[in-house]
Amino acid sequence: MAESVAACWARIGALAGTPRRDGSAPGAIRPLFAADPERFARFSRRAGELLLDLSKTSLTEEVLAALLDLARAAELEGKRAAMAAGKKVNATEDRAVLHMALRAPRRAAFRAGEEDASKEVHATLARMRAFTEGVHGGAIRGATGERFTDVLNIGIGGSDLGPAMVARALWTPACPMRAHYLANVDAHAWEEVRPRLDPRRTLVLVASKTFTTQETMTNAALVREWLRAALGPQAVAEHMAALSTNLHATSAFGIRSDRVFPFRDWVGGRFSLWSSIGLSLALALGWEGFARLLAGARAMDEHFLSAPLADNLPALLALAEVWHVNGLGYPARAVLPYDERLARLPAHLQQLEMESLGKRVTLAGTLVAHATGPVVFGEPGTNAQHSFMQLIHQGTTPVPCDIILVARPDHPHADSHRKLLANGLAQAEALMRGKTAAEAKAEMQKAGLAEAEVARLLPHRVFPGDRPSAAILLPHLDAFTLGQLVALYEHKVFCLGALWNINAFDQWGVELGKQLAGAILPELEAGAPRPGAHDASTEGLMREILAAAQGG
Ligand code: F6P
Repeated sequence: MAESVAACWARIGALAGTPRRDGSAPGAIRPLFAADPERFARFSRRAGELLLDLSKTSLTEEVLAALLDLARAAELEGKRAAMAAGKKVNATEDRAVLHMALRAPRRAAFRAGEEDASKEVHATLARMRAFTEGVHGGAIRGATGERFTDVLNIGIGGSDLGPAMVARALWTPACPMRAHYLANVDAHAWEEVRPRLDPRRTLVLVASKTFTTQETMTNAALVREWLRAALGPQAVAEHMAALSTNLHATSAFGIRSDRVFPFRDWVGGRFSLWSSIGLSLALALGWEGFARLLAGARAMDEHFLSAPLADNLPALLALAEVWHVNGLGYPARAVLPYDERLARLPAHLQQLEMESLGKRVTLAGTLVAHATGPVVFGEPGTNAQHSFMQLIHQGTTPVPCDIILVARPDHPHADSHRKLLANGLAQAEALMRGKTAAEAKAEMQKAGLAEAEVARLLPHRVFPGDRPSAAILLPHLDAFTLGQLVALYEHKVFCLGALWNINAFDQWGVELGKQLAGAILPELEAGAPRPGAHDASTEGLMREILAAAQGG
């Protein structure tokens, strides 16, 4: 009989809480390499172009077997099938979750209930393509007859982070258009981007699933005024398009219907870069680039849907996270892309993972019995090494790292690239190996330090080691491999939702702040807090702000 979920959790807890048979700690990694020269081969897997190496974690065959049993007991494969079948797996919003339909061929025939999701997707893709090619070919121009050279995407969260991350990764000067992203309601952001834009040659996309998000609608109104002031009121129709599910609101805003590129509510914001929300990418990179991105994601979907769990990259990445978070109690994870072009990947993953997995109740509404999503943060290597890596090497809390390496660069500076890769590999090695007291001592003695100095410095020069990292190796960074990489993380998030029995697809936690901001705004407009409406801190800060604003 299959083990129950509770029994699997208990087994994982026992493995994490008891020394191994050889006496080493459950989180130790060094002894695993010492005992098994084949460890790299045993704990690495490939999918498409990607290699995932989990050997520098403390996973053992026994731990992995327990984690795989948990995946089976939690019915991960059944839940995956339910998502692919268009079942309403986002139960709290009563929605299907079908971002996979966005990158699947028409024949894949994804369905959301009665709706032929694939048909809908391909109808929109055809319109996006015609629009993109019309802009690039010059058939679609600005109000003054000039060709569009720049696209400004106004959106926030999932309507910004994914496209901005991909544009940062793949744009080169040879691309057909420049892309700019405006997210923050702080108008300093608009003031920063504005001087780079010529209204006559700028196409503006208002990207918002709901078309009600305060930040986006405020920025959209600012930019609409900018267009009107420069080109006259008629120009808005020529220069603005909308990417949204809310067709009433796009028309009320004044965007003509043939410039609205829809998507459906079964596309979650943080999973939406493959939908019309990615139009800025098609415009900036060219249709072929966008299509390759979708194809890369589709390749990862096919792997995720078909590979056995023990070889399934998203499932394995999720299981390693369960081991780290729930078994060993590590509360955070760092994402370190050793490629400057992936500078915005940590920001994208922060939303993808933390908005999805930052949940404290199960799908049934009961409190979860274990920790859920870890804190995710990151920076490109090597910059991270000169910033927060100190804590990860020698701090009190181990922080597992995802080290993303790209074998072949797109520049001719081979020496720089070798140094970059040497650093990425070295960080992972240093985290795992550490430096023992004996090694640190020998090093200082060799450098000629006096014995008293050696003794004084020794505790500071020891690295505990046994700090885990997962390496993800891409042969090359292009639209196809980036599509695979992003989809890998999307499916990892799905797996964790299934394993933790939480809804990874809602985000009620962002609502309270929005409501309270809605209440504070009129008080700031009126110049005084409503007496008794707030705690003393909020009221005190409001009074200070209002007084300072008057002083300015
Ligand atoms: O931050 C909450 C959120 O709803 C995200 O999930 C979403 O990506 C973002 O706001 C933007 O929402 P919209 O696309 O509706 O403007």
